[in-house]
Amino acid sequence: MMNYSIPASRDAAATLDRDDPLASVRDRFHLPDGMLYLDGHSLGPAPKSALAAVTGASGQEWANGLIRSWNDAGWMDLPLKAGGRIARLIGAEPQDVIVCDSVSINLFKLAAAALPLAKNSDTLIVEEDEFPTDQYIIEGLGNLVGVKLIRAKAGEGAAALAEHGGVLVKSVVNYRTATVVDMSEHEQIAQQSDGVIVWDLSHATGVIDVDLKTAGARLATGCTYKYVNGGPGAPAFVYVKSDVAAELTSPLSGWMGHASPFEFTSRYSPKDNAARFSAGTPPILSLSALSGALNVFDAIEMRIAAAKARALGDLCVARAAQMDLPTISPGIGENRGGHVSLLHENGYAIVQALIADNIIADFRAPDAMRFGFSPLYVRFTDVWDAMDRLENILATRSWDKPQFKTQSAVT
Ligand SMILES: Cc1ncc(COP(=O)(O)O)c(C=O)c1O
Repeated sequence: MMNYSIPASRDAAATLDRDDPLASVRDRFHLPDGMLYLDGHSLGPAPKSALAAVTGASGQEWANGLIRSWNDAGWMDLPLKAGGRIARLIGAEPQDVIVCDSVSINLFKLAAAALPLAKNSDTLIVEEDEFPTDQYIIEGLGNLVGVKLIRAKAGEGAAALAEHGGVLVKSVVNYRTATVVDMSEHEQIAQQSDGVIVWDLSHATGVIDVDLKTAGARLATGCTYKYVNGGPGAPAFVYVKSDVAAELTSPLSGWMGHASPFEFTSRYSPKDNAARFSAGTPPILSLSALSGALNVFDAIEMRIAAAKARALGDLCVARAAQMDLPTISPGIGENRGGHVSLLHENGYAIVQALIADNIIADFRAPDAMRFGFSPLYVRFTDVWDAMDRLENILATRSWDKPQFKTQSAVT
């Protein structure tokens, strides 16, 4: 494994790029000329293999194969096949992962199914800095089934679980700070309190080295449009550890979760394993894009990719410190997800000024500028150049223009 030290010059950054074991993976992406794309924590860029897969699925399988393609092109098997390939990235068994629905819907299904497993099935827990959809979904579920919701302070979800039992919904990597939680420690607390954790792996999959089996995780979901590069709105996945699957009932008992959907019986009988959490017809064009994107990961060892992502982030943190820009992300050498959040009260305008220069980052209100460092296509020189540009924008106050201050719907 490569030993990274923080480059002190652009030349030193170029040396790291030259020796990068993942350098050739960048060629597998369509990256617009002249753009520095540091937003893979929001929407990953298009792998060439994903674009080709969509062309094949639409131009041939749909256009010519039509309904026969459910069988002939293996459309029916895509959710489990793609799930099995995601399983390798998160330390799970292939049959324990299925691609379906969105993270929001999967959180609902998993948390509802988990409630009867917990000793205290009258309690849902979510931390107050959790990604908003996780909070909204859990609140909605609580209201629907008449279960109380505990809003724990940031980082205190496990303590609430230890005290109350119940079901905790928790991100492995925080969307704002990129802080990484200790999954094993959390799972031990869950076991001791007869509670259950539903993990959100959205900011973890494809960028940090997740090992669900070793951590003892039982339930998880995550998105595939960020670091997995599955495309805008790509379907999410569900992970269910085999030995608990039989005890779980999805509240959305659609026909695709049925053991034999084409027997058209009127009684519901779920599939085995994670597949029981499928509900409706899979989105084949999106799934095809995702399957194509997963080709990029076939030769990737997550341990190596995660080490590079952290080193790219370390360089960003080091350069930000020289600019006196505070960060809410873990520091140099600390366990961190794939992005770094730098704070500035004019962060929105600064990010717009960067975007105008073809350096794509994003902004999370009220003041966080997020820079994402996917190890598959971001180079050390990209981070160096982006930070040079940021330094210049700050020094010249070139962000201070009306056109950079009008907020768009998506930030
Ligand atoms: C941690 C986390 N959970 C969930 C989501 C979104 O869920 P969905 O795919 O249902 O829109 C995001 C989106 O950025 C996220 O960061």
